[in-house]
Amino acid sequence: MARHERPGDGPAGGKRIFVTGGASGLGRALAERYAREGWRVCIGDLDEARGEAALAGLAAGAERRFLRCDVTHEEDLAAAARWLEETWGGVDVVVNNAGVAVSGGIAETPLADWQWIVDVNLLGVVRGCKVFTPLFRRIGGGHLVNIASMAGLVHPPMMSAYAATKAAVVALSEALRIELAPDRIAVTVVCPGFFRTSLADSARAASPEIDGVTRALVVRARRTAPEMAELIYRGVERGDFLVLTHRDGKLSFLLKRLLPFPLYSRILARGARKMLSRRPEPRPASPS
Ligand SMILES: NC(=O)c1ccc[n+]([C@@H]2O[C@H](COP(=O)([O-])OP(=O)(O)OC[C@H]3O[C@@H](n4cnc5c(N)ncnc54)[C@H](O)[C@@H]3O)[C@@H](O)[C@H]2O)c1
Repeated sequence: MARHERPGDGPAGGKRIFVTGGASGLGRALAERYAREGWRVCIGDLDEARGEAALAGLAAGAERRFLRCDVTHEEDLAAAARWLEETWGGVDVVVNNAGVAVSGGIAETPLADWQWIVDVNLLGVVRGCKVFTPLFRRIGGGHLVNIASMAGLVHPPMMSAYAATKAAVVALSEALRIELAPDRIAVTVVCPGFFRTSLADSARAASPEIDGVTRALVVRARRTAPEMAELIYRGVERGDFLVLTHRDGKLSFLLKRLLPFPLYSRILARGARKMLSRRPEPRPASPS
C-alpha cells in the first residue's frame, strides 16, 4: 500500500478490506487486525454461522459485513466485488486466504482430492485476482494479498497436492506483480509455516496416520493466527512482495537458493523425516 498510494487513499477509517475464508483462523485474525486499525471489513466465507460470529468479534465501531462466498464459484466473488463497489465505493485490499489441506502419498491420494484442493487453493485465488482486477482498475489501484504457504517454496513429501497448489499461487503472484504494476495494483504473497487454526478439521488425508501427523503439526504449532496477521499487516503496509513469517522457513528458502541441489535435497529429506515422525494428537474420547 505504501508504495501504491492511490487518489482515494484517506485515513484508515476510509479503507476497505475483503478477506476470503475470513470466518476462521488466519482470515479471521486478519479481519480483526484491520478492524483494529479502523478499516471497513468484509468477510467472505462458506460458513455463515462462523462468519457472523467472526464479525461480532471485530473491534467496536468498525464497519463490517459478512457475505456468503464460495471461492470455487466465480459468481460469488463477482457478487462480492459488486457489493463492495456499490456499497463502499470499492475495496483497497483483497486477501485471497480461503484454503484447505490434503495430505498423503502420491499413489494413495485420490484424484478427487487433487481436484478439490486445486479448485479451492489455486483456482480460488485465480478467481479472486481475476474478478477484483477490473474493479481495482476502475478505482485507480488496489492490493492483492495471496495466502500461499512455506510448502509453496520448499516442498516436503507426503503433501504434494498442497505444495503444488501453493507453489502455483507463488508463481501466479510473481507473474501478476509485474503484469498489474502499471495499473497501480500491488501484489503480496504470504508463505507461512505451520500455525494453530482449524485447518486440520477440513483437511483430507490418504490414511489415518498421515491425518494424525497433519493434525499434530497444525494443532500443536507454536505460532498463532494473530501473530501471522500482525506480520502480514506490516508486510502489506510496507508494500513487501514476499512475506515469510517463520525463521526456519526463511532459512530453508535461503538454503534452497544458495546450496547445490543435492546438498539442499539431503537437508530437506532430513527435516521432512523429523516432521513426519511427529506423533498424532490423542483423539478426545467420544461421549458414551
Ligand atoms: N494453519 C497453517 O498451519 C497454515 C500454514 C500455511 C498456510 N496456511 C494457509 O492459510 C490459509 C487460511 O487457513 P487457516 O489455517 O486459517 O485454516 P482454517 O480452516 O482455520 O480457515 C480456512 C477458512 O476458509 C474457509 N473456506 C474453505 N473453503 C472455502 C471456500 N471454498 N470458499 C470460501 N471459504 C472457504 C473455511 O470455512 C474457513 O473459514 C489457507 O490458505 C491455508 O492454506 C495455513
